[in-house]
Amino acid sequence: MSEPGRIVAGILSPHPPHLIYASNPPQNEPRSSRAGAWNGLLDGYEKLRAELARHEFDVLVAHTPHWKTRTGHHFLGVPHFEGKSVDPIFPNLFQYNFALDIDVELSEAIHDEAAAAGLSTRMMRNPEFRVDYGTITSCHLVHPAWDKPVVAISSARTAFDYSNEAGDQEMLALGRATRRAIEASGRRALCLASNSLSHRHFTSEPEDPEDPSFEHVYNENQSAWDRHILGLMKAGETRRIFDEMPDFTEQCVAETKDGCLSWLLAAMDFPPLPATVHGYGTVIGTGNAVVSWDLDSARTEASA
Ligand SMILES: [Fe+2]
Repeated sequence: MSEPGRIVAGILSPHPPHLIYASNPPQNEPRSSRAGAWNGLLDGYEKLRAELARHEFDVLVAHTPHWKTRTGHHFLGVPHFEGKSVDPIFPNLFQYNFALDIDVELSEAIHDEAAAAGLSTRMMRNPEFRVDYGTITSCHLVHPAWDKPVVAISSARTAFDYSNEAGDQEMLALGRATRRAIEASGRRALCLASNSLSHRHFTSEPEDPEDPSFEHVYNENQSAWDRHILGLMKAGETRRIFDEMPDFTEQCVAETKDGCLSWLLAAMDFPPLPATVHGYGTVIGTGNAVVSWDLDSARTEASA
């Protein structure tokens, strides 16, 4: 019998298109002329990639806030996608020519587990589908080689239609379904939550988008909440983060409303494991943190 699958690491991997722009990968058409405002986050991603280089994995499973599905949780279900993704807010920064493979078998397995748990679900079978920039940006920044397949999960509207509490309860069920499917699949998975933290943002842009004098936290309320959440992450208080999530989401207009972080915490089964905060910084005033829960290293230490 094959080995049971597992989540190798859980990762909070925010997706500001600015970070792709500043990195000048060949896939992105706009070119940055200088490093500027977001070096803390870029360094954070570099540290994360160095940590992940110590682990083997088979697949990246991403939950994204920018594939918004009116009803239910959708899963990419075509083996290969290609196209150009343009950020609708920042087309001057992000026009990315993507080509990615999908682990359709695992995607269908998570879909089936979620459906069996009573969630509304659907496989997305349109080969012309334009993959959202949240999935692309997070996967690129975590693993720019694009040599592993991806599972991408949409953001349902439960929190927006009902309440933050209802949304999080649904993400609890979806996270648990994701975990069961990964374990049954034998895959070694990285799970990515693609959201930022506090999300109040400026509504104008400087002439030079990388002008470091422009970039700062939107206000102290937002910053204080981010510091609090990062403190809980470092202390291994994963269950408390989930419990406080509705208030955080409400008071920080946080992108956690789309469910990614709640899904990730549930998929990891709320490990009492201190996370590593690789970097924190603002992008147009929003709070962004690159964070990992290195579950494989924790398993190795526990069995030593
Ligand atoms: Fe976003």
